[in-house]
Amino acid sequence: MRLMNRTISMLAATLALGGLAGLATPARADDAPAGDAARGAKLGYTCYGCHGIPDYRNAYPTYHVPKIGGQHYAYLVSALGEYRAGARPHPTMRGQAGSLSEQDSRDVAAFFASANPVKSEGKAVGKAPEAAATCVACHGNDGVGITGDYPTLAGQHADYLEQALKAYRKGARQNPIMNPMAAALKDEDIRALAEYFAQQSPPLWVPLPPHGPGAR
Ligand code: HEC
Ligand code: HEC
Repeated sequence: MRLMNRTISMLAATLALGGLAGLATPARADDAPAGDAARGAKLGYTCYGCHGIPDYRNAYPTYHVPKIGGQHYAYLVSALGEYRAGARPHPTMRGQAGSLSEQDSRDVAAFFASANPVKSEGKAVGKAPEAAATCVACHGNDGVGITGDYPTLAGQHADYLEQALKAYRKGARQNPIMNPMAAALKDEDIRALAEYFAQQSPPLWVPLPPHGPGAR
């Protein structure tokens, strides 16, 4: 595993240094990074302070800092824009996103999305809770978002997914698709859905400095 991680980090370093041309083929046209991953690798350095520490938690309420490694490019750009716009209320992330221009966001997103992208292998792990039937239309049977706009949930921390669904349900996190999706979910549905998607594979990963992929 260590050796594999090293190989992967070297690949990430190569990508970061050499740019993406010819090395990484985006999974889908609508998720093609329009950002500069090499520049993103430098700008993204501050992000490791939280996103690069496996098992690091938000202080209050307590839940894991989400894994952003391998997440879809388009979703990462959009998430950063939502923090800037206030549709997502987390104060620290609003500050972080607020310090990035639109171009910076694209570059950082290109780096985290493309160093070791998570691509569907089409196999779901375990038995899906009944409530998952609607979710998989967008988030995929194995939790890998079917297009770049739909976040990958596979391998994400269960407590973060739970927190996100509760935030949609109470409207603290605003999104025209997810607010109605979460509105009818009970606490036990949310728990089961979060656990189901968290155990799917291939998983998102925790980027480790200096250049990316490392811990799942
Ligand atoms: C001080 C800790 C901290 C730092 C530094 C930080 N983040 Fe975050 N980030 C968080 C936390 C906590 C969340 C979850 C917030 C929430 O619940 O909305 C988060 C959420 C995110 C998300 C949303 C993930 C998802 O699945 O929706 C993205 C994207 C993100 N951060 C990117 C970045 C980038 C890029 C940087 C560097 C420019 C960065 N973060 C720096 C703590 C941090
Ligand atoms: C019609 C497509 C669609 C369906 C169906 C759907 N989602 Fe989503 N989901 C989205 C989109 C788009 C986002 C990103 C919204 C945003 O930017 O906040 C999202 C975001 C999420 C997130 C936050 C991910 C993160 O990293 O922060 C979770 C968790 C989630 N969905 C779970 C579910 C569950 C569970 C269901 C089924 C009950 C479901 N979704 C159904 C489209 C969908």
